Amino acid sequence: MTEPAQLARIIAHRGASADAPENTLAAFELAARQGAKCVELDVSISSDHIPFVHHDDTLERCTNGSGYLCAYTAAQLDKFTAANNHSGFNNEPIPRLSTTIDRLNQLNLGLNLEIKPTPGLEIETTTAICETIKTHWKSDLPLVLSSFNQEALALARDLLPGAPRALIVCAVPSNWRQLTQQLLCSNLHVAAELLNKEQATSVLDASLGLYCFTVNDVEQAKRLFDMGVHGVFTDRPKKLLTAL
Ligand code: G3P
Ligand code: MG
Repeated sequence: MTEPAQLARIIAHRGASADAPENTLAAFELAARQGAKCVELDVSISSDHIPFVHHDDTLERCTNGSGYLCAYTAAQLDKFTAANNHSGFNNEPIPRLSTTIDRLNQLNLGLNLEIKPTPGLEIETTTAICETIKTHWKSDLPLVLSSFNQEALALARDLLPGAPRALIVCAVPSNWRQLTQQLLCSNLHVAAELLNKEQATSVLDASLGLYCFTVNDVEQAKRLFDMGVHGVFTDRPKKLLTAL
């Protein structure tokens, strides 16, 4: 039986992403200033296989670029800026994972790294991420690798067996036990609005860590903690840390 991989009760989702451009160093620094002990971020790779912190496959929503992130070299991606829909943040780059890990270690932040491969690049993305973690992660704080993608989790299990893994799902699938055992996952990360009490009890009884996304409402967070959920991912860490 596995042990739950502990992150924190309140995890800053893409950094303090309600108050700063998501998945930027500014968002992670703000999360730390707001009192978060742990952040979540998403990682995919450039055309030359350098991991970058970014949520979407394409650049339009969050940057001043366009098209697929994986179509650009790292040097080209370094020149884009994260779209600024928050006042007070200018010229934030799309951060490289290596730079981001160095900063998180300085800030004493734990990390839930979501492996977010562009379809077809599962092996390259996971390999590059595991290599970057091996060379850059220096902290004793929590580090969990999570993904919706089972191929990525299976490869992470083999390449970096010491880093605990989490399977991300929207609704809890009927075969969650088999999947988490096969992938040697310590945690199940579930969409908050799709989790019921009975499922939470079964997952917790199986000694899995149970975390929910994305929870920006205090009453919803309280209901989840009453069900035994270990932690929640929120765009508003300050609000939840103050209230709970
Ligand atoms: O890791 C939890 C959550 O971030 C998964 O969904 O789309 O926000 O990356 P998404
Ligand atoms: Mg994510």
